[in-house]
Amino acid sequence: MAQSLSQLKEQLRATPQRWLITGVAGFIGSHLLETLLNLGQEVVGLDNFSTIDGNNLSHVKMAVGEERWRRFVFVEGDIRHLDDCRRVCQSVDIVLHQAALGSVPRSIENPLATHESNIDGFLNMLIAAKDAGISRFVYAASSSTYGDHPGLPKVESVIGRPLSPYAVTKYVNELYANVFDRSYHFKATGLRYFNVFGPRQNPAGAYAAVIPKWFAGLLDGGPIHINGDGETSRDFCFIENVIQANLLAATTDNPAAQGEIYNVAFGQSTSLNRLFEMIRTLVARVHPHCQDITPIYRPFRPGDVRHSLASIEKAQSLLNYAPEFDVQQGLAIAADWYLQTHRGTP
Ligand SMILES: NC(=O)c1ccc[n+]([C@@H]2O[C@H](COP(=O)([O-])OP(=O)(O)OC[C@H]3O[C@@H](n4cnc5c(N)ncnc54)[C@H](O)[C@@H]3O)[C@@H](O)[C@H]2O)c1
Repeated sequence: MAQSLSQLKEQLRATPQRWLITGVAGFIGSHLLETLLNLGQEVVGLDNFSTIDGNNLSHVKMAVGEERWRRFVFVEGDIRHLDDCRRVCQSVDIVLHQAALGSVPRSIENPLATHESNIDGFLNMLIAAKDAGISRFVYAASSSTYGDHPGLPKVESVIGRPLSPYAVTKYVNELYANVFDRSYHFKATGLRYFNVFGPRQNPAGAYAAVIPKWFAGLLDGGPIHINGDGETSRDFCFIENVIQANLLAATTDNPAAQGEIYNVAFGQSTSLNRLFEMIRTLVARVHPHCQDITPIYRPFRPGDVRHSLASIEKAQSLLNYAPEFDVQQGLAIAADWYLQTHRGTP
């Protein structure tokens, strides 16, 4: 029987582990870091700052305080280099592999760069972790792997053809993970994240995700663009749910749960039109004039799937995953962050 999140946290506090987080300076990586340091864990972090600056790490340092921060070792390095991967895998108990180039449009513009970090880098990490004798490896997979399969909700065993180079890379990760199990009995557990959001997600740049982009856009006074008719829907997943899934997957003692692939989502779909209304309402509480901003509709974006909604049954039954934040609750927390920190989009 998988343990609950609170039991797991107690156990981790009692017997701290040494974790490696790749992509630690990124949105998800930095939240994993904050949680683990608050649980008294030792953490090694790797990042090459390719899509991000050091701001997230500064925020974590402030949030956890000097004493806990001392349990963190940061290594500036690149998963495209096997030597860097080997260096950070030394003396580590658990790997949470997050480093990758995200974004479907980025991958369409530059498939080679996405391939190098997401496939070559991933393979390097598998090799380094296996050779270092690490027995627990959890990696960021993606809902993009469902591709053009129309079925809803998405269940892990039924996927379609990938719709972008990014989706190919994330699917290849799963294939490699599976083959490492067959060839070397090395188990890597994949978490197919569905549109993660929360504080610290970067609103800047051409490849920003929709939620941070819209918070920043409204705070800047518009314009806000919706790709397509706004009835495209997603299973938006608040960051705390993703952290929970990582902790559970990384520590499960259930052999049947290890080396599997899991959807990580809330299990509820929200259209872009509805999402926009929710974000606008939250921002307008502080900046009432935002209520007058209406979205501008433009053509659908290539590579985007129309609807996405996860079945989270597998994670519930094998990992005891129980997401605590729905989209509305998560947006309220994210809103506080953007309202406090947004200084205008450069
Ligand atoms: N955010 C989402 O909604 C979402 C959805 C599905 C999957 N994912 C996956 O989750 C992971 C984390 O995503 P995120 O939203 O935190 O993205 P992010 O861009 O905020 O973080 C990724 C981090 O990886 C680092 N990185 C990239 N290439 C690297 C390399 N070659 N070597 C070392 N570091 C490198 C970047 O500098 C960045 O700090 C990624 O693997 C992403 O594909 C995210």
